[in-house]
Amino acid sequence: MDVAGKAAFITGGASGMGFGMAQAFLAAGMKVAIADIRQEHLDQAMAELQPRWGADVMAVQLDVTDREGMAQAADAVEHAFGKVHVLCNNAGIGVIGRIVDYTYDDWDWMLDVNLTGVFNGVRTFLPRILAHGEGGHIMSTASAGGLFVGDKGGPYSTAKFGVVAMMCCLRDDLARDGIGVSVLCPGAVRTNIHKTAELRPARYADSSFAPGEVIAGQSPEDAAAEREAMNAIAMDPLQIGEMVLAAVRANRLYILPQPLQQVVGLRRDAILASLPDEPVNQERLAADIAIRKMIASGRPLGRLS
Ligand code: NAI
Repeated sequence: MDVAGKAAFITGGASGMGFGMAQAFLAAGMKVAIADIRQEHLDQAMAELQPRWGADVMAVQLDVTDREGMAQAADAVEHAFGKVHVLCNNAGIGVIGRIVDYTYDDWDWMLDVNLTGVFNGVRTFLPRILAHGEGGHIMSTASAGGLFVGDKGGPYSTAKFGVVAMMCCLRDDLARDGIGVSVLCPGAVRTNIHKTAELRPARYADSSFAPGEVIAGQSPEDAAAEREAMNAIAMDPLQIGEMVLAAVRANRLYILPQPLQQVVGLRRDAILASLPDEPVNQERLAADIAIRKMIASGRPLGRLS
């Protein structure tokens, strides 16, 4: 994709990786709308970006769980920039705990922001990108936790595996429309994700997490020490932004900033080791593949019988 002059909408764009994407996109000649739930993050980001990029950058306050708000944000950006070509569903929260310890509110907040928020972006912007017919790109931020699970990462990974699956499906669906699709799966990156607890809306208040806690059962001192150790080895969010820009230009599905072969390999090996050890039934395999092709082409499954 030739990105110069095109417009991007980035959720969670006022901080961390989203802000890195905004900087990389602007430097590549794009127009950028940063959308974020935190007004103070938007103000800081605009104070940094606007003196250099002027009217090529705009800010919209938005909660990605708010579907009407998302439509209004899309209208505002189209009013300012004409069209949106690149959608980055990047906003996310990280409250890490085991599935068994999650309350309904903990679960709903995690899934509403990290998974449904991504669908809300797709549902709002995809018809508009299809309608202008100039092509485009949808990029969503999952996580390395969308490829394999870690300690206490169950609910987060459940959402992020969903994001990876959604982007893989969309990539097949949109290939014929000239719309590219990517999914970003980073390990540790130096951002404000540890401040997630500040964002919990009142409607998700019934929580098993203590106030301010983002890793279940961890004292504030241990959390600070772990964060410091993590930040020492974590990646720079601007570097991630540049990787996203490169993936949009080249239309690459997976954006994998770190070499995580070992852990990805463990999951792949576990799946391969669980496949039945028997001769392949070619007819059944052909039917399985045919079903998938029919789903991809939108033809009715009934035609198989
Ligand atoms: P960050 O906290 O610096 O940036 C996320 C931004 O999203 C914040 O400005 C926050 O205000 C905003 N946000 C949160 N909830 C929102 C909502 N409901 N509506 C709109 N905006 C909302 O954190 P970071 O790390 O840059 O997060 C970006 C994405 O990266 C997230 O999806 C996160 O899950 C993912 N991620 C982060 C990793 C890390 O090590 N920092 C690793 C892997 C994935």
